[in-house]
Amino acid sequence: MNKPLSGTENEYRIAVYPGSFDPVTLGHLDIIQRAAKQFDRLIVAVLNNTTKTPLFSVEERKALLAEVTKEMPNVEIDSFRDLLVRYMRSRHARVIIRGIRSVTDFEYELQMASTNRQLDESIETVFMMTNPKYSYLSSSIVKEIAKFDGPVHDLVPPAVEAGLKGKYKSPQSAD
Ligand code: PNS
Repeated sequence: MNKPLSGTENEYRIAVYPGSFDPVTLGHLDIIQRAAKQFDRLIVAVLNNTTKTPLFSVEERKALLAEVTKEMPNVEIDSFRDLLVRYMRSRHARVIIRGIRSVTDFEYELQMASTNRQLDESIETVFMMTNPKYSYLSSSIVKEIAKFDGPVHDLVPPAVEAGLKGKYKSPQSAD
């Protein structure tokens, strides 16, 4: 279980890793493990995006993240439905963590980091290069494979594999 921790930005170095995590992949998990080593506390924050229809609900995504990070004492799972910088201020966090897989990620990430900086210049974005093993991996790719009952055990943690099986348990139509 993730532990509550009192304190302020003056006492702790708190980072937020925001995302959709629909669902969390081994690529995300690699970033979580590495980022958790660099900060006193890492908050993995699931965006509650009302304009998208996700496969997993926010509660399901949080439960999967909690399961796969249960051995990481300084990692907390949360969700937000707000501007990221406002959420960060509410959590006394100053650093955003984002993973970059390839140059194609870079443009979007630069735009987001620049926007967040424009909104609050005290907030810093730190990019971590995704482990090359997972440079092709995305939640969308995982869902595409799982939808057709393909193997995802090398792409997601076991709890997520089970969750995907549950979502796609009815046979796919041949159409
Ligand atoms: O995993 P994703 O979908 O690439 O994550 C995108 C996310 C959640 C980091 C981004 O959409 C976000 O921060 N949304 C919150 C709204 C916001 O603050 N937007 C302004 C920055 S672009």
